[in-house]
Amino acid sequence: QPDLKLVVISNRIAPFDPNKPKSGGLAAGLEPVVQRSGAVWIGSSETPGEGAERPLPLVPTGAGHVARLDLPAADHDGYYRGYSNSTLWPALHSLPDRMSGSEEDYGSYRRINDFIARATFDVRDSDAFWVHDYHLLPLGAELNDLGIERPIGFFLHTPWPTPDMIECVPNHRELMKSMLKYDLLGFQTNRDLNNFLACLRTHFRLESKDGVVTTERGQTRLQKFPIGIDPEQFAAYLAADLSPAEQEKVSSLLQKFQDAKFAIGVDRLDYTKGIDKRVEGFKELLKKEPQSIQLLQIAPSSRADVDEYQKYKEDVENAINHVNNDHGTDEWRPIHYTNDSFSQAALARLYREAHVGVVTPLRDGMNLVAKEYVAAQDPKDPGVLVLSKFAGAAEDFNEDEALLVDPNKPEEIADAISRAANMPLEERVKRWRSMMDKIESYTIHDWSADYVRELEKSRVTVPAEQ
Ligand code: UDP
Ligand code: G6P
Repeated sequence: QPDLKLVVISNRIAPFDPNKPKSGGLAAGLEPVVQRSGAVWIGSSETPGEGAERPLPLVPTGAGHVARLDLPAADHDGYYRGYSNSTLWPALHSLPDRMSGSEEDYGSYRRINDFIARATFDVRDSDAFWVHDYHLLPLGAELNDLGIERPIGFFLHTPWPTPDMIECVPNHRELMKSMLKYDLLGFQTNRDLNNFLACLRTHFRLESKDGVVTTERGQTRLQKFPIGIDPEQFAAYLAADLSPAEQEKVSSLLQKFQDAKFAIGVDRLDYTKGIDKRVEGFKELLKKEPQSIQLLQIAPSSRADVDEYQKYKEDVENAINHVNNDHGTDEWRPIHYTNDSFSQAALARLYREAHVGVVTPLRDGMNLVAKEYVAAQDPKDPGVLVLSKFAGAAEDFNEDEALLVDPNKPEEIADAISRAANMPLEERVKRWRSMMDKIESYTIHDWSADYVRELEKSRVTVPAEQ
């Protein structure tokens, strides 16, 4: 790990408690990084307030520190529910029909970014800033305006869409311009990186050279850094005892399947995750092969104050009820569904018992659940991963490893689940070993070390006469 004193900034902060669930891939990924690197991690306290305390109260955690900011109440809704999650999130996932929002939201978004910059720029004698995700696209520009001269990097955990799609986002030009104030822009996949470069070409007539874009401020390097997991941590989860309460939750779920085959889905209840199409896929499968396999769908509630999420919850639950009514009996229920969330240690147990991992998002930055499912398998008798072609993880795992599917096609999902559930041991082991080698050779710690090394090298200012 390079020896940089880092300030990490994101909206969401991890719970730093192994018995608590992680609220998404960003929190899951950054927690071990901050714990090991000694960084200061600044984010939202989730309790809107009136202003930041000065100096920021830093709470020690592992080798690092955390500071939770009360973001200004007047702008919080427009920033989080509005611009971030009703406008940007659907656009970044290329789902324009899910977009909404008011004109004022962008103002709130900018003011919150400005607030975070002012609260954090002098937090300590840091060497570099590392900003995360779509809530904070213009934060680097705000930090620049405050005269920060250290490297400032950004990593996008979500996909980046095509030039046409980004044009649907109000103020997209100003936003993208502000992103060029970062020294380093990190993306999950080549697809996202290339889409961003295409947007620069289409909307600004800007070309990159050797992965670098030059503007009057200086240079911005653009690169892909596919996020990983900590496979040793998953092995340790499987070896350790769960808390009695979690053990009870896990046992009562597993009891439903006894020795029967089941597939597992673990997703925030989010319309990008394709849970409804997955359920349709299950319906198709059960029509052809009645009572062949069950589904355990874990779907913790997410962003429940956004309308589209409320609608989606109803759609998913209606679809599940139909399948259970049409294809279940008093003794046999096709789909077990819960909005409960679980610690990663509990998830590891459930992943391990499941014969198939179904990860079928319509689009996803990476999808860590896909990698976690693989990491938790028994090497001698591993399950099979069914993976959407449109998850970032599908750039890491090829068709000789996962069963890749179009998440919009229930028939394809049905066939893949059936093939996975009936795959001979030899083929399962071969596919699993190959994915596991990749997971082990590029962990979350390699990801952050790579990023930070690149960030350290950046910050090249262009001489005035250019
Ligand atoms: N997760 C968890 N408890 C749950 C459900 C999910 O800790 O009940 C974690 C899961 O282990 C994973 C993360 O949340 O690390 C989800 O990340 P992913 O990249 O799959 O999707 P995201 O939620 O970021 O869109
Ligand atoms: C995705 C986003 C993260 C976000 C997470 C959970 O992983 O990329 O930035 O933290 O979802 O969403 P939430 O709105 O609960 O933070």
